[in-house]
Amino acid sequence: MSDPNYKWFKVAASEEELIFPENGILELEVGGKTVCLGRFNGKLFAFAQKCPHAGGYFCKGWIDALGNVVCPLHRYKFNMETGRNVTGEGYYLKRWPVELREDGVWVAREKGFFF
Ligand code: FES
Repeated sequence: MSDPNYKWFKVAASEEELIFPENGILELEVGGKTVCLGRFNGKLFAFAQKCPHAGGYFCKGWIDALGNVVCPLHRYKFNMETGRNVTGEGYYLKRWPVELREDGVWVAREKGFFF
C-alpha cells in the first residue's frame, strides 16, 4: 500500500520525455514547487532545488563520478539516494520518492499545507 503521507504527481508520460541537460540535473515543477530531478546510472532521484547550505541552485551544479550531486557555490556534495552530505559539513539534502510506472514518471511530495 502506498504511503498515505505522500501525494504523487505525474511529471512525464515516459522517461524518454524527460530531456536532461548535460549535467544530468533537470528542474521540474511538482505539486506547485520546483524540485530537481537527477539522473545517474539509469536511476532517477528527486531532491531540493536549492542547497541546504546557502541556497545554491543545484541545476547549475553537477553529478560526480560516484553519483553525488555537487553544489556549484561551495561544492558541498550530497548523496542523491540518502541525502547524506558526503563532504561532512553536516547538512542534509531534502529528497522525494520517484517511481517509473507503466504510465510514466511519478514524483511524490509530502501531504501538508498545500495538498
Ligand atoms: S550553497 Fe551549496 S555548498 Fe554552499
